[in-house]
Amino acid sequence: MGNNTFGKIFTITTWGESHGPCIGVVVDGAPAGLDVSEDDINIALKKRAPGKTPFTSARVEPDEAQIMSGVFDGKTTGASISIIIQNKDADSSKYESLKDKLRPGHADFTYMKKYKNVDYRGGGRASARETAARVAASVIANKILQKHSIEVHAYLQQVGDIAIDYPYEKYQQATDDAIFCPDHEISLKMQKKIIATKEDGDSIGGVVAFYCKNLPIGLGEPIYQKLEAQLAAAMLCIPASKGFEIGQGFKAAQLHGSEHNDNFIMDDKGISFASNNSGGILGGITTGEPIYGKVAFKPASSIMRTQETVTKDGKQETITLPKGSRHDPCVAIRAVPVVEAMCCIVLADALLQAKSNIL
Ligand SMILES: Cc1cc2nc3c(=O)[nH]c(=O)nc-3n(C[C@H](O)[C@H](O)[C@H](O)COP(=O)(O)O)c2cc1C
Repeated sequence: MGNNTFGKIFTITTWGESHGPCIGVVVDGAPAGLDVSEDDINIALKKRAPGKTPFTSARVEPDEAQIMSGVFDGKTTGASISIIIQNKDADSSKYESLKDKLRPGHADFTYMKKYKNVDYRGGGRASARETAARVAASVIANKILQKHSIEVHAYLQQVGDIAIDYPYEKYQQATDDAIFCPDHEISLKMQKKIIATKEDGDSIGGVVAFYCKNLPIGLGEPIYQKLEAQLAAAMLCIPASKGFEIGQGFKAAQLHGSEHNDNFIMDDKGISFASNNSGGILGGITTGEPIYGKVAFKPASSIMRTQETVTKDGKQETITLPKGSRHDPCVAIRAVPVVEAMCCIVLADALLQAKSNIL
């Protein structure tokens, strides 16, 4: 199972399974001299961790990072940074009765066909537990971005059919909301919907919006490394992500050129844009305007309803998750810090690539 590495110059290589002893990440390409501590990483991990509210899975992981290499005296040395996070609250007993059945919506079927020998506990390698390692790595990426005052924010924009306006520049900071939705009233409506869905034994989809600002002009490489293509790849490899758009995205297909074009303005500060429908990227390269986009997440596949399925040896059966199974009723909530993390990783990589472009 190759392809555990993401990025070109700033790269992350994650490893580990949901119910193994630990997961981790190796970060390569980070410049020497960045201030990094385990506390910095733990603050970011807390944001992604489950078990804090009724809106997320009841698995309670302390998520404490251990830096094993690449940091000396609180600063990166330029060597590979290796980070380990222990799995302390994996309950494999719940998976015992399910191990011979294919769970609808999960990766069980494709992993079984492709790899034959599969760690089925908690989804094994396919589990979103892996995204904790991405969040840990993104702390290093963010340190690079901070040197350039670049900010990355994500928020829960939609749950089912309840949505807030978009793009929502003033709503960048939503960290104090239980579900990362920056509009308090809409958040309460979303929360009500999520609880009702959970009580009904079901799950619900959602959309995460991201917003990056203070970008220099010129990040992103042409043709195959266009910045929006890198962002799309980063977002669509988050478990359960099903759609990606940048700028006006799919809405652009309903517009005329006269409505969608971002006209140029010349003033004493130089060239600027009258609007930002492109989402801050033209020809795959940053314009200097904010980058914004959305990622759609499907409803969690684990639901407390009896579903039709087939056993691994081919018998038609039903599957019912055991009482007390722990899962997210709305994956999109916990995907917010992961979307933020993947934005940071893509932009840090783009920044380092841009530096290698022009002498
Ligand atoms: C942060 C996060 C948490 C998730 N939690 C759950 C969960 O509790 N239950 C579930 O069925 N899927 C959950 N998922 C999604 C599954 O991991 C994913 O649907 C599954 O591995 C199959 O992959 P795919 O949907 O990308 O095809 C979560 C995804 C993310 C990003």
